[in-house]
Amino acid sequence: LDKNAGSGLPLAFHGTVIHSQSLDDLEILENCIMIVGTDGKIQALQAGVESEQINSILSENGYVPDVFPVKYLKRGEFLCPGFVDTHNHAPQWAQRGVGRGISLLDWLDKVTFAHEAKFQDPEYAKRMYASCVTGFLQQGITTASYYGSHHGQATRILADVCFEKGQRALVGKCNMNRNAPDWYRDPSVSDSLHETRELIHHVQQLDPEYNLVKPILTPRFAISCEPELLDGLGAIAREHPDLPIQTHFNEAKQEIEFTRQLFPEFDTEADLYQRYGLLNDRSILAHCIFLQEGEMRRIQELGCGIAHCPIANTTMQEFMVAPVREYLRRGIKVGLGTDSGGGYSSSILDAMKQAFIVSNAQQMLTQGRDPALSLHEGFFLATLGGAQVCGLDDRVGNFAVGKEFDALEIHTTDLGQPGVMSPVEDEDTTHVIFEKFMMTGDDRNIVKVYVSGRSVKI
Ligand code: GUN
Ligand code: FE
Repeated sequence: LDKNAGSGLPLAFHGTVIHSQSLDDLEILENCIMIVGTDGKIQALQAGVESEQINSILSENGYVPDVFPVKYLKRGEFLCPGFVDTHNHAPQWAQRGVGRGISLLDWLDKVTFAHEAKFQDPEYAKRMYASCVTGFLQQGITTASYYGSHHGQATRILADVCFEKGQRALVGKCNMNRNAPDWYRDPSVSDSLHETRELIHHVQQLDPEYNLVKPILTPRFAISCEPELLDGLGAIAREHPDLPIQTHFNEAKQEIEFTRQLFPEFDTEADLYQRYGLLNDRSILAHCIFLQEGEMRRIQELGCGIAHCPIANTTMQEFMVAPVREYLRRGIKVGLGTDSGGGYSSSILDAMKQAFIVSNAQQMLTQGRDPALSLHEGFFLATLGGAQVCGLDDRVGNFAVGKEFDALEIHTTDLGQPGVMSPVEDEDTTHVIFEKFMMTGDDRNIVKVYVSGRSVKI
């Protein structure tokens, strides 16, 4: 079966399947049959199927039983949707963990720009992006929204690497033409916009239907962009109503203050990005720590999504708490981001656990008004919530029939060597096994990763 995966042959599984239907509706399906068609899409999903019924279900779906290989998942094994990383800086892959405890703007100046500048060299970009995309796939990240470096060529390479390795990705050329050193910024507005158009063109050639890879407009943040650059990106956004947009939004006090100095005509960042045509239902707003009441209302009305990056938010100079419960209460779309390398980890499981910790802090800070996130909610943010933020929930995020088979095969027993996961015991229910994986498992438990039915984990 494994060698068939990705070669356009169908797949079938029988066993436990776990996915989210909505924020707090976790569905655990036992004795479930999952059939994936040659197009990589979920063709059938049915729970409560005994072994002897499998053949007739295969026949009903047009497959010849006995010839068609079914993968039987044992107790302690299950399928869940792939993780969605809504905010990731691919050129920071090699700097994760470096430069804790300094302010955001110092971290950019002293650590980050020098790392990203190395992507001037296409050979370096090929090598590092191959390592990056492989590394995230190993962690079960089947969809990532990437900021590239400011280099056009390296960012086209990133799109190629995602496509070749089979990762679903939004790929953005980072637009930045000021407040960065001469050796690491776009030389002009026209050059910045030209490289963005080149990327769009490149991805249209690579993947014309955007089945796997899609360009995303990526102004780093207002501090890095002259008004004319933001204007030009707004024009491209209007020209390409199918393309998503990402930026950093109300991340740190120092950043908000500097933005206000640069753009005194705007009261808030919501005003600013909206004026430039960059705030709408395609926007992925990273961090969202310090939103004013009016901004929350606006992003809810406009249908913007939030990339919650709790690791980066709590490991720079300040401990910054995004009021995620408030956003969820208002019905704003929220997903998780590793923000690798502002966040040290490349694991969505780590981001989810940090989201739990931060939500506990928020519960305390609000005297209980903002209850902490539940396990089910954390899993939703890591999967379906992230898909909504990326505008991909019609394709991925859970196992609705017709969606793409972007999935993880989780094994919690018989791994051959002990990992760190809390051992499964005889009396454990499926829910307890799931909880143990979510809270103590890691990439060793993610034995297979599928994107659109193709097996992509080495
Ligand atoms: N704001 C502007 N650039 C960055 C970045 O690379 N990481 C984070 N966390 N915030 C930013
Ligand atoms: Fe970031």
